[in-house]
Amino acid sequence: MQPARLPSIVILISGRGSNMEAIVRACAAEQWPARVAAVISNRPDAPGLRFAQQQGIATAVVDHRLATSREAFEAELAACIDAFEPSAVALAGFMRVLTPGFVRHYAGRLINIHPSLLPAFPGLGTHRRALDSGVKWHGATVHLVTPDVDHGPIVAQAPVPVHDDDTEAMLTARVLEEEHRIYPAAVRALVERRLQVQGLRVRVLAASPVQAGEVVR
Ligand code: GAR
Repeated sequence: MQPARLPSIVILISGRGSNMEAIVRACAAEQWPARVAAVISNRPDAPGLRFAQQQGIATAVVDHRLATSREAFEAELAACIDAFEPSAVALAGFMRVLTPGFVRHYAGRLINIHPSLLPAFPGLGTHRRALDSGVKWHGATVHLVTPDVDHGPIVAQAPVPVHDDDTEAMLTARVLEEEHRIYPAAVRALVERRLQVQGLRVRVLAASPVQAGEVVR
């Protein structure tokens, strides 16, 4: 009899991949009942691909610049993702806006980290905008992805203080440290099916002690 395969996680990146790295490390260190099956980038030169390869994780590139249209890019990306039959698809610094059709295809499985306390500062340049607006608290949000960009049900948030003498780099680093803490925990909760979603509200159920190697269905 074939041994049961662990549920798969596919991670999408566009660059450095430090959040992907945090998920991969947590998955191994905490012996999640799941495995990171693949890391896919839309940029061939994404530095994060190297880390994934070193870990023995399958990698792929679906270069949006080579696609004839957004639909063609997403069709190729979805085919690449679906080959791994993932229980969770984690966007980790994946800098492409996804169409509603693509998002619906992964409804309930697609999760994202955003570098602000949503609904404040959706979009790009969040740290600069936080400094310029004078907020005293900034942070990071993990949310389920819906067609409404940066507005999906919130799974986790981490606030960080904004200090008087902060530069954009200092604030970015403080937020990133929190991203690496909350994102792996949220992805784990998703693959362990511990998220109860009602409208925009998400209840994260406590983890039950799972035996190493046990498969959660
Ligand atoms: C992270 O700060 C992530 O929150 C942000 O990009 C960075 C990627 O860093 N994502 C977005 O801005 C999505 N809109 P990483 O490649 O080192 O994980």
